Amino acid sequence: MFKKRFMLNKNLKDYFEKAQKERWAIGQFNISNLEALRAIVQATKNLKSPVVIGTSEGESKFLGLKQAVALVKVFRKETGLPIFLNLDHGKSFEYIKRAIKAGYDNIHFDGSGSSLEKNIAITKKIAEYCHRRKVLIEGEINSIAGSSEILKKRPEIKEVNLTKPKDALKFIKETKVDSLAINIGTFHGMEVDRENPRIYLQKLREIKERIGEKVFLVLHGGSGTPKEDIKEAIKLGIVKININTELRVIYTETLKKTFKEKPEETTPYKYFPKVISSIQKLVEEKIKLFGSINKI
Ligand code: 13P
Repeated sequence: MFKKRFMLNKNLKDYFEKAQKERWAIGQFNISNLEALRAIVQATKNLKSPVVIGTSEGESKFLGLKQAVALVKVFRKETGLPIFLNLDHGKSFEYIKRAIKAGYDNIHFDGSGSSLEKNIAITKKIAEYCHRRKVLIEGEINSIAGSSEILKKRPEIKEVNLTKPKDALKFIKETKVDSLAINIGTFHGMEVDRENPRIYLQKLREIKERIGEKVFLVLHGGSGTPKEDIKEAIKLGIVKININTELRVIYTETLKKTFKEKPEETTPYKYFPKVISSIQKLVEEKIKLFGSINKI
């Protein structure tokens, strides 16, 4: 009964508002197959946490947009949990339209490769399209470097490329996005030692002071970010944190280890449970770190 009620009453925006007010963050965990999704659902179920499932254009092309929606729907229905689906780093309007048609809850349009003016113009158009269809939209300014893998070389982070508070305010006022991905020194991917450098918390403080509660702030490039910085960033108002590389790494490493121990194994349902439980454990650690435990 309770399950049915909260599924009807609370959408993703309600959870963002709650997180913003109470200072915790929802994890976005990226997937490209059923095994990873199953692990994330199990973690959120154990810890009673809302969650965003992310698929980039590449991940969703591999899994299928309709298939991603159908899988999330099945888990939502079966568990009664607030599991939401986001298109991560959507780059083309055409692809975004397809994701919305398939049933995504949230769209991240990444126009950060263009100038601020151009980014504002296209994001505004896409935001209107999303809102007419009751879909949330996340915009992005000041491109977040890197890619979701172990990086041979760390991207150079220059303070001049971080998000300026006045640009953030202009962007959200003109585009009317629901959420905003900002650049405060994180990057996609992890260093070989898996410990990325500290982030620019002072920059976040200044952005938050300027924009207040007008928009939900998102932190991309969550993998490898020092735990104390994540905690502080949440206190300063970040409400969604994206994690991909750490999940990919643990998935692949567990699978490699399993085959090393049992090279003769050929039955997927016998070798995947270890992969699933290692991802689940990692997601549970993140949920605890983000403070979204018992928030459904
Ligand atoms: P990481 O791969 O660094 O975790 O970043 C993920 C991300 O920001 C997806 O949008």
